[in-house]
Amino acid sequence: MLCYVFVNAINRKACNENGVTVPGLALTSAWAEACASSSASKIWVPAGTYQMTAVDVRGPCKAPIEIQIDGTIKAPANPGDVGSTRWFKISYVSSVTLSGSGVLDGQGAAAWKQNQCSKNFNCKLLGMNLVLSYVNNSIIKGITSKDSKHFHVNVLGCNNLTFDGFKVSAPGNSANTDGIHIGRSDVVNVLNTNIATGDDCISLGDGCTHVTIQNVQCGPGHGISIGSLGKYKEEEPVDRITVMGCTLKGTTNGIRIKTWPNEPGQITVTNVRFENITMENVQNPIIIDQEYCPWNQCTKQNPSKIRISDVIIKNIRGTSATKEGLSLMCSHGVPCQNVQISDVDLKFKGAPVISKCDNIKPSISKAPACTYA
Ligand SMILES: *[C@@H]1O[C@H](CO)[C@@H](O)[C@H](O)[C@H]1NC(C)=O
Ligand SMILES: *[C@@H]1O[C@H](CO)[C@@H](O)[C@H](O)[C@H]1NC(C)=O
Ligand SMILES: *[C@@H]1O[C@H](CO)[C@@H](O)[C@H](O)[C@H]1NC(C)=O
Repeated sequence: MLCYVFVNAINRKACNENGVTVPGLALTSAWAEACASSSASKIWVPAGTYQMTAVDVRGPCKAPIEIQIDGTIKAPANPGDVGSTRWFKISYVSSVTLSGSGVLDGQGAAAWKQNQCSKNFNCKLLGMNLVLSYVNNSIIKGITSKDSKHFHVNVLGCNNLTFDGFKVSAPGNSANTDGIHIGRSDVVNVLNTNIATGDDCISLGDGCTHVTIQNVQCGPGHGISIGSLGKYKEEEPVDRITVMGCTLKGTTNGIRIKTWPNEPGQITVTNVRFENITMENVQNPIIIDQEYCPWNQCTKQNPSKIRISDVIIKNIRGTSATKEGLSLMCSHGVPCQNVQISDVDLKFKGAPVISKCDNIKPSISKAPACTYA
């Protein structure tokens, strides 16, 4: 087993099988050597604080690689010094484990002030803490993503990826710091993960299939969201998404599906299950919004073409910060089909919340009663 101690981007040492450090290579070169090895490798970042410029490592590699991060790795504070939309990127590889008690610190405070993304759809994207693209059969466990400049984690084109005991931490007012964004991936599990951030805790883009989100704590943040969807013509369907045993605390939204009106996308979103979820003082606990149109960047002239079906909303309890606890506003072009709601018990100031539903077939008969808008 190879063993590398990464000291910093300039000075670095590697250790041998006995843990003895020898002069060596930085993370990038350690990866190159580990990747070429025909037996399993481990790259170790020991306790300590390190500065790291952007790193982009890729496979294919010959054998599994574990990167154990026990130290705090800091990104350049100046967004211009990260140089692109990702800070630490791993791609085109299988069997990688990211582990350890360490921290990826994006040092985002300066970037959040420059970031115009909450006002402008075509804003400049800043360095994301961790980008996993086309990564298979891999695990991220234990480490913390802190103060990312933009999304903390972006998952694209992955197969069989598990986050377990992962942590995301950033202030509630940090713009566009989605916790984990997942797109075009099959079999992604986010388990036992604590997310406090300034945007969606978890957001699922098009092409997500077999995604399980379990025992996730979210807050502050904007909740757990499917979408937004429909903006682009070439999107892929969303199928088999389960969110269970999660707690949302003081978030702006709880569980949400959002699609754009008047846009070309026409995929299906099907087999979605939200079950056993606790809300604590959540502003909009349960939402389907098929007229999602932030910052007035679209018109509502034509309905959304995204077809939502087979949605189970079951055992959702706790408190809402507004009196409207449930808002299921489906597209009048393609009504939602087969939405099942049971055991929703949400209170606003001690009284049951009110609900709003539209364009659901067949209409929902079970409690809480829906007043059709
Ligand atoms: C990941 O899995 C996909 C689908 O099975 C496959 O096409 C791709 O080559 C795999 N990538 C790697 C790096 O193993
Ligand atoms: C998924 O990835 C994990 C971790 O590498 C591995 O143990 C497991 O066998 C993989 N599952 C499949 C179906 O390949
Ligand atoms: C929800 O909780 C109930 C009661 O603890 C349990 O029986 C059920 O399996 C849970 N559902 C999911 C999807 O985890």
